[in-house]
Amino acid sequence: MLGQVLLAASRSPLARRAVSGFPVTRRVVDRFVAGEDAGDALTAVRRLTGAGLTVTLDHLGEETRDARAAAEAVKAYISMLDALRPLGLGTRAEVSVKLSAVGQMLDHAMALDHAGEICAAARDAGTTVTLDMEDHTTVDSTLSVLRSLRADFPATGVAVQACLRRSESDLRDLAREGSRVRLVKGAYAEPASVAFRRRHEVDLAYVRCLRVLMEGKGYPMVATHDDRLIGVAEMLADDNGRERGSFEFQMLYGIRTDKQAELARGGATVRVYVPYGDDWYGYFMRRLAERPANVAFFLRSLRSK
Ligand code: FDA
Repeated sequence: MLGQVLLAASRSPLARRAVSGFPVTRRVVDRFVAGEDAGDALTAVRRLTGAGLTVTLDHLGEETRDARAAAEAVKAYISMLDALRPLGLGTRAEVSVKLSAVGQMLDHAMALDHAGEICAAARDAGTTVTLDMEDHTTVDSTLSVLRSLRADFPATGVAVQACLRRSESDLRDLAREGSRVRLVKGAYAEPASVAFRRRHEVDLAYVRCLRVLMEGKGYPMVATHDDRLIGVAEMLADDNGRERGSFEFQMLYGIRTDKQAELARGGATVRVYVPYGDDWYGYFMRRLAERPANVAFFLRSLRSK
């Protein structure tokens, strides 16, 4: 219930102004976001890769309705990729892109062109791009952009949300040679007509989706902090004779860092999703919605001021 309220608030301009207005909010946001600028993000990249993890960088921003802002987001990605090149990390540092940040809500063709520019810069930097998945209304458009991008940039990946009823079938198409798919539970408020809404239903759907990915020929990216699902992923990988390097785990910056380190120590590839930038509101609210304890932490910070 609280989660649904927070997800609704994540899209409300009024709530955005109220939450962003608290002076202490920034301190709480810092738990989930690497910083406001590219320099902060690069510091996090050095620290995390130095500790044996890999990263995917997200320049924060979404639901852009302004063509100039969409073009600015593309520039930010290209300059980040230029900065990554001399670090020589290759695919140990890639980028994640929300198509709605680069024009998807304005014009499908604009989003495709912009994503193509980012993919070209990523290729020049020796790395890859993964498309985030946003709410269910964007899935067809995102998968269509993915198909077009993969013609020129075959390593482009995509996130798929287990909570959506359609995803198992989408994954049967996606789990092919060379394809990179990040499986997530899903972070958006969705109607029951298109999505499983109960936790245990989403978990069961996640397992079904994992099975499709692990049995397939692609590269599964298992994005969850859920111990049980991490265990199931390891078991399914074993059952399907997958070597360690033929799939990876992914977790969000600042969440379950102990588990990230533990999996990496055990020889798994672990990629940390590192968001940075000043447009943190939507991302932050989704993190609060996922876990009521985060709201308590936020409220305690307000009180302690
Ligand atoms: P679950 O929510 O059940 O959490 C399991 C445990 O993890 C919790 O008990 C807690 O210990 C910890 N945890 C989880 N969330 C936490 C939080 N916010 N704060 C503190 N602890 C927390 N979604 C989407 O719709 N599109 C996308 O493109 C992506 N991309 C993406 C990339 C990566 C790398 C990850 C890890 C996740 C996403 N997501 C996403 C988000 C995803 O859909 C989902 O909302 C979160 O991962 C939370 O789900 P879990 O699978 O972690 O399980």
